[in-house]
Formats: sequence, structure tokens, C-alpha cells
Amino acid sequence: MNTLDTIRYMGIKTKLLDNIIPEIQKVTPKNGIVLDIMAGSNAVSYALKEFFTVYTNDIQEYSYTISKAVIENQAETISKETAKKELSENIDKNLQDKLYNFFENTYSDTYFSKKQCEYIDAIRYSVSQIKNKYRQALYLFALMDAMCKVQSTPGHFAQFMPSDHKRIIPLQNMDILEEFWDKCNNYSALCFTDKNNKAFCMDYKELLKLNDIKSVDTVYLDSPYSQEQYSRFYHILETLVKYDNPKVDFKAKYRDDRFQSDFCYKNRVKKEFETIISFCSKNGKNLVISYSNKGLLAENELFALCKSYFKKAELKEIDYKHSTQGKGEQKLKEIIITCAK
Ligand SMILES: C[S@@+](CC[C@H](N)C(=O)[O-])C[C@H]1O[C@@H](n2cnc3c(N)ncnc32)[C@H](O)[C@@H]1O
Repeated sequence: MNTLDTIRYMGIKTKLLDNIIPEIQKVTPKNGIVLDIMAGSNAVSYALKEFFTVYTNDIQEYSYTISKAVIENQAETISKETAKKELSENIDKNLQDKLYNFFENTYSDTYFSKKQCEYIDAIRYSVSQIKNKYRQALYLFALMDAMCKVQSTPGHFAQFMPSDHKRIIPLQNMDILEEFWDKCNNYSALCFTDKNNKAFCMDYKELLKLNDIKSVDTVYLDSPYSQEQYSRFYHILETLVKYDNPKVDFKAKYRDDRFQSDFCYKNRVKKEFETIISFCSKNGKNLVISYSNKGLLAENELFALCKSYFKKAELKEIDYKHSTQGKGEQKLKEIIITCAK
């Protein structure tokens, strides 16, 4: 199974690939098209790439950037050497001229030290000068990965550590430029296929209206399962890729235009699931859902919903130590529901 060295991400499915991919293979024709409708870190899409044409979607632009870099991109690779050659001059230019300085002005001594912020701005500026959109996406992916490594946080960007935290000095002393060069090497041997993969970035409701979706055989759905909004946990990565100088609010300096997913509200989640399940049933698409047995929608309710739309629906439970990104590990079960047309 192809695994992607990717960002630290809440709900990432790397450890469940051996359970999820065979379910998708069971219902999808050879050389069929699979839509990873909420792709997040792209861990599942990357593994699927070996077997199928893959379409990805996510509302967050950082996820879309990763999709462009490693799912849609079929030819470009980067390495430490290419990065140094292509980026060093403009990194130095920005360190001197401060053409990009949003991170330094906004986040110094919060999620990152002042020096780390200066380098984030400088690398981001230099990447913005790269013409090829896939190379640009690969470098942004490496920068996100480096930022996730040096962040002074519990593992996500919903809050930063207090200044007297014992880990803050070693974290803020980390050399983000060296981390970035190293991360560039992670993508020097990407898995390529000759398939015409596509990346989308929108609310899934809009996506389902597109013509491109008509040819999809199977939808893989891995929605948020708790009230935690991804837009709050990963606002820093969103701002990095957009680099649009947003207004920020609260102590944690969140961008103020955060998307609120209805999957994160107990009174709305059932309707969200029903929208996707009924779409798949009416349009002759298979559907594979992964969800937690402690999700906002109860396991039995979700399965009953699937069975009301599909004649063939099967449920599996897998013991799973779920990473809660900083809140320790919880013993949970992951449920996988496979619905065949
Ligand atoms: C559980 S994560 C997906 C994890 C992914 N399978 C992985 O392995 O990394 C859920 C994703 O759903 C996305 N999301 C939430 N609501 C959405 C919506 N209405 N439309 C599109 N994406 C949405 C979030 O941005 C988040 O990346």
C-alpha cells in the first residue's frame, strides 16, 4: 500500500488504510473512478491512486494544495537540491526586503518564534515566484509539513503554548528552513500513474452538482465526527496557502472567515449524511463511509439511514486508537459502512 508522508492531521486514516482500501476495491470496477469527497491530509487518496482514477475534494484550501501536489500532479518532483536551487535567492530577498511579512507581524512568539515567522514569510514569498502550479503546490506542502513539525502547540493550531511551557524553548529554537529543505526530499519519489486525477476545493453540496461527478463510480466519505471544526484547528495552514492577509480574532488569532461544517452540529449532522447517501443511491454510485462509533450521529442511526437507501449495505467495526491531536489517545471503534449500487 502506498503511504504518504503527510501533515499531522486530526482524523487521518493512515493506520486504517488496510481496512478502508479493500472495502473500496470490493465495490469499484477495475480502472473505475473514486471520489474522496473530504480528503483532508490526502492519506486515503494517495493509497487509492495505485488502483483507481482519483478525484479529491475538501472545503479547506490547504487540503486542495496537497491534492494538487500529490494526487493531480503526474510529473513534477522536488528534492532538497531543487528546492535550494529554485528558492534560496528569493528567500534571502524577502528576509531583507520583507515583501511578505504577515506571519512575522501576526504570529511572532505565538505558534512560532519571530525568526521562524520571518522564514515562513520568506519561503512563502519565494514559492509564490515559482511558475509551475504543481511545483508550487509541492513546495507549499513541504512548508506546511515543516510548520507542523516546529509548531509550539499541542499538535494543532486551535491554541498555542503559554510562554512558560517547558517545551517552548526547544520548539522555538528549531530551524524551520532546515526542516523545510528536509521535507522537500519526502516528495522526491512520489507515486505516479497515467490516470487523469482531479482536485476540487468546495463545499461537497456544490461539488455534487458538477458534471465531472457523473462519471464517479464510488464515493468515499470521511466527514468530521465531532464538534471540532477543521477550519479552527488548521487556520494557520489555510492562511499560509491563501496568504490573503485575513482579519484575525480571539487570543488564538483565528482567521475570521472560517467555514463551519454542518457535520459538526448534532442537530444538523443527520441531514448532511442523508444528502450524500441519497445522492449516491439516486445516481447509481457506490458509497464507502468511515466514521467513529462515538460520532455526533449514532452508529445505529447512520447504518439505518444507509439501509433505507441501499439494498446492499454492510457494516464493519474496527478497534482503533484514535489520535485526538494533543488530548491523548482514546480507545474507539472506527466503523466502515460499504453500500453497493
Ligand atoms: C476526518 S477529516 C478527513 C480525513 C482524511 N480522510 C485523512 O485521512 O486525512 C474531514 C475533512 O472534511 C472536511 N469538510 C468538512 N465539512 C466539509 C464540507 N461541507 N465540504 C467539504 N469538505 C468538508 C474538513 O475540512 C476535513 O478535512
